[in-house]
Amino acid sequence: MSSLTVFALSGSLRAASTNKGLIRCAMQLAPENMKIITADIGDVPLYNEDVATAGTPEAVRRVLDAMQSADAFLFASTEYNYSMAPALKNMLDWASRVPANAVLNGKHVAIMGAGGGMGTARSQYHLRQVCVYLNLLPLNKPEVFVNAFTGSFAANGDVLDDKVKGQVRQLLEALAKQCQPC
Ligand SMILES: Cc1cc2nc3c(=O)[nH]c(=O)nc-3n(C[C@H](O)[C@H](O)[C@H](O)COP(=O)(O)O)c2cc1C
Repeated sequence: MSSLTVFALSGSLRAASTNKGLIRCAMQLAPENMKIITADIGDVPLYNEDVATAGTPEAVRRVLDAMQSADAFLFASTEYNYSMAPALKNMLDWASRVPANAVLNGKHVAIMGAGGGMGTARSQYHLRQVCVYLNLLPLNKPEVFVNAFTGSFAANGDVLDDKVKGQVRQLLEALAKQCQPC
């Protein structure tokens, strides 16, 4: 298999985020030939068409460049009030305004998330709806819904639970398979 660059984004911005922990776990468990990169989106401003028209802000450009270089995506979809976290949606809004949707169009996406009792299921299904418009191609299975409050994570957000690690690894293997030429 040829080398695959996957760009990972967390909906949560906090330092000890369990969703960032899932991404770190993915980086450690990535299959051979898969490189996972990520970026801090804490300084990305809210999308404003006036600002975009005047010129792409540096904080946005930095992330878009990394996204452009990626073959596929990995989203850790934090759930806020039954939907995806605004930081992730905002970054997708910026990316969607690149001409011809070139940053996102037709790329495969793996989705996971850690949150309350439903493990971010509701946020993930909203995110899947957004993917339709963006022509991002989410994997249907496996779904990775992780409870953030039952001891699966250390205080700093690192994944402790071997079952969760196994689910992350399976998700990455499915993504690698999906990205292989048919
Ligand atoms: C504004 C806000 C809204 C939230 N809404 C939900 C929710 O709808 N469903 C849920 O499972 N958890 C919800 N939570 C709890 C988060 O899932 C929990 O804080 C989780 O740990 C956040 O992810 P993180 O550890 O990556 O920061 C909410 C938290 C915040 C701050």
